[in-house]
Amino acid sequence: SGEELPSTDIITLTRHVLADQFELGHAATGDLTLLLTAIQVTSKFIATNVRKARLINLVGLAGETNVQGEEQKKLDVLSNDIMINSLRASGKTAVLVSEELEEAVIIEDKYKGKYCVVFDPLDGSSNIDAGVNIGTIFGIYQVAPGSSGTISDVLRPGSQMVAAGYTMYGSSANLVLTTGRGVNGYTLDAALGEFILTHPDIKIPSRGKIYSFNEGNSMYFHQPVLNYLNSIKYPTNGKSPYSARYIGSMVADVHRTLLYGGIFGYPDDKKSKRGKLRLLYEAFPMAFLTEQAGGIATTGRMRILDIVPTSIHERCPVFLGSKDDVQDLIKFYAEDA
Ligand code: AHG
Ligand code: MN
Ligand code: MN
Ligand code: MN
Repeated sequence: SGEELPSTDIITLTRHVLADQFELGHAATGDLTLLLTAIQVTSKFIATNVRKARLINLVGLAGETNVQGEEQKKLDVLSNDIMINSLRASGKTAVLVSEELEEAVIIEDKYKGKYCVVFDPLDGSSNIDAGVNIGTIFGIYQVAPGSSGTISDVLRPGSQMVAAGYTMYGSSANLVLTTGRGVNGYTLDAALGEFILTHPDIKIPSRGKIYSFNEGNSMYFHQPVLNYLNSIKYPTNGKSPYSARYIGSMVADVHRTLLYGGIFGYPDDKKSKRGKLRLLYEAFPMAFLTEQAGGIATTGRMRILDIVPTSIHERCPVFLGSKDDVQDLIKFYAEDA
């Protein structure tokens, strides 16, 4: 008595994406849905292994260095491998770009499909061994008309992505996705093995109270960034200063920014001339999500999604978040012109 029956009308990610396509009146081919199913499987696999990492000796280094010169963690390698295998087997992909692989993977004819996926299999590697939130980031292009799937299909501005998202592995696994019609968040129901819609139509507050930068790099920062940070830490108009929150996993820092508002930044500086974050599989997907949630994503001087990549692992400065906060930062860059 009084006990509530479980809902029999749950909205899974797959159902939600299909519903979206019905609404667009598209005779949905189901291709994107199947590709997203493959991505969901990789996220479930990685989530499970992140949880078991300390028990089955998955913490620590794999013994190799990636193209970025970073030491690969065991989970970096495992996550990369599951994504390559699963995306290839989906039969929906043509080109894959991973942070952990120097070259793009061109899918053989037998498995070739029409999508290109760029991804950071495991974001926040430095946080793995401490059990702090980490994630997976992905962006999806369609091969250009007439192309058989080459590297030029991914050397295109982020504004041409058809979908992007991330999964955050934290107290629960959260998959946040855009297909260009807003942003939705899904939480993994471990018993069902399904991502369930829990955060429909995420919108970033137009102003926040949090800034998220690695201020330990302040001695290298350029003047506009220093001036901006100063303005929010020492407000002159009787307002309260902003709170600092920096996890060091882009996925987690961006996730909080989408939900609570504020600004996340990883600038270029005197040491990291082009910044640290990678354009294709970190900056573009997060910029796409941010704009779809009503926020702004900029290098300080231009819209991130308008950048035309010239190589698959290039880096770019990133500032993203609440519209008003990012506008304030852009003003300091404009003054610096
Ligand atoms: P990855 O673990 O995929 O190499 O990415 C690390 C990135 C990103 O997650 C984070 O925002 C940033 O590095 C943190 O860098 P710092 O440690 O320099 O602050
Ligand atoms: Mn890395
Ligand atoms: Mn990363
Ligand atoms: Mn990574």
